[in-house]
Amino acid sequence: MTVATHLENHRYGHEPETRRLRSAAPTRGADVLALANQKGGVAKTTSTLNLGAALRERGLRVLLIDLDPQSNLTMSLGIDPETVERSMFDVLVHKVPIQEIIAHAEVDIAVGSIDLAGAELALAATIGRERALEKALMPVLQEYDYVLIDTPPSLGLLTINALSASDGVIVPVQCEYLSLRGLVQLENTLQMIRENLNPRVRIRGILPTMLDNRLVHAREALDLLERNFAGRVFKTRVRKTVRLAEAPVSGVSVLTYDSAGSAARAYRDLAEEVVNGAKEES
Ligand SMILES: Nc1ncnc2c1ncn2[C@@H]1O[C@H](COP(=O)(O)OP(=O)(O)OP(=O)(O)O)[C@@H](O)[C@H]1O
Ligand SMILES: [Mg+2]
Repeated sequence: MTVATHLENHRYGHEPETRRLRSAAPTRGADVLALANQKGGVAKTTSTLNLGAALRERGLRVLLIDLDPQSNLTMSLGIDPETVERSMFDVLVHKVPIQEIIAHAEVDIAVGSIDLAGAELALAATIGRERALEKALMPVLQEYDYVLIDTPPSLGLLTINALSASDGVIVPVQCEYLSLRGLVQLENTLQMIRENLNPRVRIRGILPTMLDNRLVHAREALDLLERNFAGRVFKTRVRKTVRLAEAPVSGVSVLTYDSAGSAARAYRDLAEEVVNGAKEES
């Protein structure tokens, strides 16, 4: 028996079915998903916001969490991170209840701020530093069907907190500059998290983004991805479109900004895949 299975059995006793039911019927408590990839600019933030909006459109209760010091997610919903009094930093470091920093925008969001840049250092010396987010989320898990966590482009303590608190990980990848080595590194980190912190976390799906079908290279990259991560690549593909860059300037999702456009359709398809739990967990 591996350490991971041992931990899993210990934690879930005789009910391994519960988890599968949970992703199919998230009403038992939020399905917590981290959007992670240590590579910068692969559409983590864009996908967090628009998947969240698409789940919201289906009548589901969604909470977004901005765990990135850049606070792009907070900005994308029209909130200036420089003016927020308290943010996820205070939740993680000062144990402020998360309910107190949730803003009710197009989608509910636990806001970020530049202070988060100091969170890794502030948490480093504390006991349970990897579990600060998991603990902070507990009081709101029954209030939401989905919690989506936007993470910074690194595998530091903030991302580790996100992975420790999550049931699954959605990995956006930009097909033009696909780095399989980066994905392997993310998988190794996940393995470490499973063995030491959170035995249930798995890659829920890899999401190809910023796709430009005209480029042979993009198609080759996609083939390579599907060959190496068979069964774990979402069917949804998000194409390159300026609409996705324009929407955040108006402080809304692309579902509101350009409801009939291809990007809105893609994120609705992704929501459908996520809700149906189509991804085989491995
Ligand atoms: N499908 C797309 N087509 C065109 N532009 C896109 C698309 N998806 C995202 N973008 C744009 O690409 C840029 C990077 O996206 P985003 O900020 O979501 O990436 P990220 O992974 O969160 O970056 P970081 O690692 O810095 O947090 C943004 O300007 C965004 O508006
Ligand atoms: Mg981002």
